[in-house]
Parts: sequence; structure tokens; C-alpha cells
Amino acid sequence: MTKDELINHLNMMPHPEGGYYVETYRSHKIGMINKNNIERNASTAIYFLMGDNDFSTFHKLKFTEIWHHYDGNPVEIVEITPKGELKRSIVGKDFLKGETPQHVITGGNWFAARTIESEGSDYVLVGCTVAPGFEFEDFEIADVNKLAVDYPDHKEIIMEFKK
Ligand code: GUN
Repeated sequence: MTKDELINHLNMMPHPEGGYYVETYRSHKIGMINKNNIERNASTAIYFLMGDNDFSTFHKLKFTEIWHHYDGNPVEIVEITPKGELKRSIVGKDFLKGETPQHVITGGNWFAARTIESEGSDYVLVGCTVAPGFEFEDFEIADVNKLAVDYPDHKEIIMEFKK
């Protein structure tokens, strides 16, 4: 299937961070936490797809998210921890090159992602799971200009993800 056929086949829609997604699972509710009046789900899962021209700009989630590689290109995930440490990881199938099939992004880290172009594919399909379940109010897209001021040591890589 081509990238566009797969987006249609899986009923994916554009994600505000970039790329395309569809929610595949939303668990039972576990009640309210964090006193913020949202009744939470225990967990959620999505399919997330990025073409070679898409990227996921810097954003952060309140809770830890796990990415799982399903199909296509490897994907680079760039994280900045609250202490200002930069982490670069590649989720993919070439384990001998250090790619891993899963990657854990700790809640509160800023992170961005993009495909690594490879022969035979022009997209990546991953799964993203989060617990407690995803809510848009736990999600913040960075103003990358401001992020670069806050983390000047990482300005160059931050600016590579400017929309
Ligand atoms: N549902 C809508 N957007 C997202 C996302 O970025 N991550 C997860 N896990 N679920 C979502």
C-alpha cells in the first residue's frame, strides 16, 4: 500500500503536532486524578504515521508515552528533559545499528520526531500508547522560538523542527 492508501485504509486524520493518527483503543475509566475534573481512562493507543516530508514538532505530554515501530522507515525521536539534557533515539528494526522496536518518552520531556529516509519506504507507521489515557489538555505544542531561548545549547536541533 502507498502512504496515502494506508492513511485512508486506517481512517487516519492530521495530527496538530504533524503526521496522521487514529485512536485505536481507549480503556475503561479510572476516575479523576490530579484534581483537574477530568475522568481519566487507564490507557489509550493510537496509530501514528509520518511521511518523509512530515515531522512531529516539539511537544510534551503530562504522562509517559511509549512508541512502537510497526512498519516503514526508522524514526528519530529527539527529547529534551526538564534538566536540559538532549536525547536522540531511533525506533526501527535494524537492531544491530542500535535501533529499538520500542521507545519510552518520559512524561514532561519535550520531544519531536521525524523519519529517517530509507530505500523501499516513504513513511513510518508507529503505535503510541499512554497511561493514564491521552487527553488533549495534557498535550502542549512548543513555541520553538521560545524553546530555543530556554535551551540555547540545543537551538540548532530545535530549529530543525520549526513548522
Ligand atoms: N490521541 C491523540 N493524540 C495523541 C497522541 O499524541 N498520543 C497518544 N498516545 N494518543 C493521542
